[in-house]
Amino acid sequence: MLRTVFILCTFLFCFHLPFCSAKDTLTLNDSISDQKNETLISAGERFELGFFTPHGRSDKRRYVGIWYKGSNPRRIVWVANRSPWLDKSTGIFCITEDGNLMVLDENNKSKWSSNLQGWYPFKGMVKLLDSGNLVLSKEDNGTSKVVWQSFNYPTDTFLPGMKMHDSLNSTAWKSSDDPAPGNFIFQKDEESGNQYIIKKNDRDLDYWRSGVSGKFIESDNFLVISFILSNFTKSSSNIRNILKNCNSSSRCNMTSSSLFNKNNTMLVMSFDGKIQYFSRHNKSASWRLTWSEPRHSCSVFKACGNSAICNTQTGCKCLRGFDPVSPDDFSEGCRRKTPLCRKSGAENFSMLEMMKLGKPDTELETTGENGCREKCLKDCQCQAYSFETTNITKRDDTRISRCWLWVEDLNNIQEEFTDGGRNIYLRLLPYTEVDANSNSSGGFYNPRMQGTLIALVTMASLTVLACVIAYIYIQKKKANRQGKELWRFTYMTVRGMSEI
Ligand SMILES: *[C@@H]1O[C@H](CO)[C@@H](O)[C@H](O)[C@H]1NC(C)=O
Ligand SMILES: *[C@@H]1O[C@H](CO)[C@@H](O)[C@H](O)[C@H]1NC(C)=O
Ligand SMILES: *[C@@H]1O[C@H](CO)[C@@H](O)[C@H](O)[C@H]1NC(C)=O
Ligand SMILES: *[C@@H]1O[C@H](CO)[C@@H](O)[C@H](O)[C@H]1NC(C)=O
Ligand SMILES: *[C@@H]1O[C@H](CO)[C@@H](O)[C@H](O)[C@H]1NC(C)=O
Ligand SMILES: *[C@@H]1O[C@H](CO)[C@@H](O)[C@H](O)[C@H]1NC(C)=O
Ligand SMILES: *[C@@H]1O[C@H](CO)[C@@H](O)[C@H](O)[C@H]1NC(C)=O
Ligand SMILES: *[C@@H]1O[C@H](CO)[C@@H](O)[C@H](O)[C@H]1NC(C)=O
Ligand SMILES: *[C@@H]1O[C@H](CO)[C@@H](O)[C@H](O)[C@H]1NC(C)=O
Ligand SMILES: *[C@@H]1O[C@H](CO)[C@@H](O)[C@H](O)[C@H]1NC(C)=O
Ligand SMILES: *[C@@H]1O[C@H](CO)[C@@H](O)[C@H](O)[C@H]1NC(C)=O
Ligand SMILES: *[C@@H]1O[C@H](CO)[C@@H](O)[C@H](O)[C@H]1NC(C)=O
Repeated sequence: MLRTVFILCTFLFCFHLPFCSAKDTLTLNDSISDQKNETLISAGERFELGFFTPHGRSDKRRYVGIWYKGSNPRRIVWVANRSPWLDKSTGIFCITEDGNLMVLDENNKSKWSSNLQGWYPFKGMVKLLDSGNLVLSKEDNGTSKVVWQSFNYPTDTFLPGMKMHDSLNSTAWKSSDDPAPGNFIFQKDEESGNQYIIKKNDRDLDYWRSGVSGKFIESDNFLVISFILSNFTKSSSNIRNILKNCNSSSRCNMTSSSLFNKNNTMLVMSFDGKIQYFSRHNKSASWRLTWSEPRHSCSVFKACGNSAICNTQTGCKCLRGFDPVSPDDFSEGCRRKTPLCRKSGAENFSMLEMMKLGKPDTELETTGENGCREKCLKDCQCQAYSFETTNITKRDDTRISRCWLWVEDLNNIQEEFTDGGRNIYLRLLPYTEVDANSNSSGGFYNPRMQGTLIALVTMASLTVLACVIAYIYIQKKKANRQGKELWRFTYMTVRGMSEI
């Protein structure tokens, strides 16, 4: 790189001092040397910047990063040179003459740069703040201007004081000991209504979405986290309400202290695909994992595709009246055996108890459950409804209900979970249509489960066949041989079966 021509990082300061006392600032012609174990330490001793080898690595790869000072193993919150590492402990971190931050190896070859257009000559400095932000500022005619800050380039960790917006993301490490960009990216998604999402490199669909349940089943915990992600700019009364509900409900597991203790929280996109919220009581307490998503196989976005129920124990299962689109591919989900609109008489519903379900397509007010059911029946595409009766009454004393309709696909349906759910009324086709070819609860399409079923059926058939043959044989031989022989035959059959 031509820029190396301009590079001038001398070690003058440290050569002439007996030791380097803790500092939080680097100026031009100043640097951090790995060989000399130099680091920057924020004024309040909360964060430290320097060279490190990821915990668990046996080789000597060196990276420049920021970590919580005193953490052991180091809690790395930011990494400069994520993929081009240094082989030896001979690197330096410095500001170049044109005002760029750089990580250089012993041959002055660049391993990372802030990649700014540069100013020459540059006047300014870089400072590690107590928030964990590394800020490069330029002095211009007596005023200081921030030209670069690490908070605008998160690696896998989101710290309080950052603000999530569309062009920001946190990208997981490749593995627990490799900070190179990995498979999972956490970001805000404008297209899906400002939800937060996790994308996975090899999956077309989002891997996880914060707003799947939307207003339908609120995720209290996530509202708290989105408050932090907004740099605490969301209405605080809203958050206070959430906290109040948290106190009275086992559904919420977020403590108010961890929420308002801005110094002691962090959100990490972990290498194995989980977005994790950590908190601690104070600087000397240990970190606690307070919240993490996706929690299990069913929290993955559309884990079972459309119109299938996800169960963490048993896998995916088509809804009643639905068939797998493809028996080999989970993600394609299920579809109606007969499309609703082509069939008259689809006016029965089956109740699915305490389910979790994706966002409804329509929300309206009706009179009681019947009103809601009527609304669903009026739309030939309506797949399901759910309702909640309020305390508000009309003039004729009938209660008003909140009514939700699903007109398009039903997805993210989940059973067997702990934090609340709703009864969903699934529209059925006439009885004969639904149950002609399958058992009453719809077909399993977990391939492994199907294999087991086939094996069981085959075994049962063989046993029956064996018994029939045995019966005929016994009947024939009954005339001349009795008692002892029969017992022997039965014994052989049972032994044979137990060996299958
Ligand atoms: C940095 O070093 C160069 C060359 O040695 C010198 O000209 C310049 O004045 C120095 N800058 C500062 C701020 O010390
Ligand atoms: C730097 O730290 C390492 C290990 O902690 C130590 O072996 C080495 O002597 C130190 N080097 C200097 C220059 O202090
Ligand atoms: C790297 O740059 C420094 C400062 O300009 C210089 O003293 C040193 O000789 C250079 N090292 C190499 C290997 O070019
Ligand atoms: C520099 O600052 C002085 C006083 O603050 C002001 O009068 C002058 O216009 C500034 N120059 C530039 C180039 O901004
Ligand atoms: C994530 O952010 C980095 C810059 O910090 C950018 O290079 C990368 O393209 C972003 N990835 C996505 C998927 O937006
Ligand atoms: C976050 O909020 C703090 C305090 O209000 C503010 O100083 C900081 O600039 C904000 N950060 C961003 C990225 O907007
Ligand atoms: C929640 O409960 C704790 C202890 O019972 C109390 O200290 C705190 O103020 C409560 N938070 C809210 C928002 O009511
Ligand atoms: C909250 O989280 C803690 C620690 O992870 C756990 O021990 C506790 O059981 C959780 N409480 C609830 C109500 O889920
Ligand atoms: C957070 O850290 C700052 C800087 O060290 C300190 O002034 C502030 O009191 C801390 N706040 C809490 C709640 O610990
Ligand atoms: C920090 O938290 C730990 C555990 O929660 C507690 O034992 C300790 O007294 C606290 N220290 C301070 C200085 O508050
Ligand atoms: C509705 O009325 C019942 C019984 O009167 C009461 O327990 C409940 O809190 C009320 N719900 C609302 C949302 O007002
Ligand atoms: C609705 O369900 C009832 C009871 O299961 C059944 O007798 C009736 O035939 C069903 N109606 C239609 C149109 O399928």
